[in-house]
Amino acid sequence: MAAVQAARVTWVHHWNDRLFSFATERDPAFRFENGHFTMVGIEVDEKPALRAYSIASANYEDHLEFLSIKVPDGLLTSRLQHIQAGDTVLLGKKPVGSLVLTDLNPGRNLFLFATGTGLAPFMAIVRDPDAYLRYDHIVLVHGVRQVSDLAYRDYLTKDLPEHPYLGELAREQFLYYPTVTREPFENQGRITDLITSGRLTADLSLPVLDPAEDRAMICGSIAMLEDLSALLDERGFQVSPSQGTAGDYVIERAFVG
Ligand code: A2P
Repeated sequence: MAAVQAARVTWVHHWNDRLFSFATERDPAFRFENGHFTMVGIEVDEKPALRAYSIASANYEDHLEFLSIKVPDGLLTSRLQHIQAGDTVLLGKKPVGSLVLTDLNPGRNLFLFATGTGLAPFMAIVRDPDAYLRYDHIVLVHGVRQVSDLAYRDYLTKDLPEHPYLGELAREQFLYYPTVTREPFENQGRITDLITSGRLTADLSLPVLDPAEDRAMICGSIAMLEDLSALLDERGFQVSPSQGTAGDYVIERAFVG
């Protein structure tokens, strides 16, 4: 059985010249947990060019959605960025990943720390009703270089709170904290610095991060994962040691196209 299947693109949205999202039809047999990633690609010179992409849509939706950077000389994304509705992409049939709610201990607040396209898996988590059942608050912290890199900002600030099923949960329990490092914005600075200074939790009127109470998921560049894990480790948070074993936090690198 082939490891990939073809899927028709239904929607493409360009956030800026570095970032875009696209959606495809979903085979009902394609099952995944919110937070999972799968292989995505296209044929290049009659060979599949595939990269790992986190699934940004929730696992109960009838489409699949992905967030991608555009790498000008990247084998895949230099081409993928030109796809249009009606085109076909290849999707891996076996979604996997460590950013799953079931690998986290119960607790008070769940922090979702993302930089860049590391946001993608958390778009599925913030649309998962289970997240709201398990934790008092779901706190999405998205760090980017420029304001236009804040993909899904309108969705997160306007649409999610008005969502027919999730809106009430989101209005009461969802907190969104976008932060920008390379131009002026209402919140500025790296996520790591905002935690260390206490600014993040103070701005959100939440208690400081406490390993006895709080849980985290992290998705970003390798450097960001290292720095943020070290910061949480120092504070006494235990990383989930392996898939299927719960910890205080879980990590996944944001995949680069
Ligand atoms: P900065 O502008 O100070 O480098 P990138 O596109 O390089 O992945 O960066 C996305 C965001 O993540 C930027 O705001 C960047 O800040 C920030 N960032 C980069 N490296 C780290 C790190 N080691 N820890 C925390 N944030 C980081």
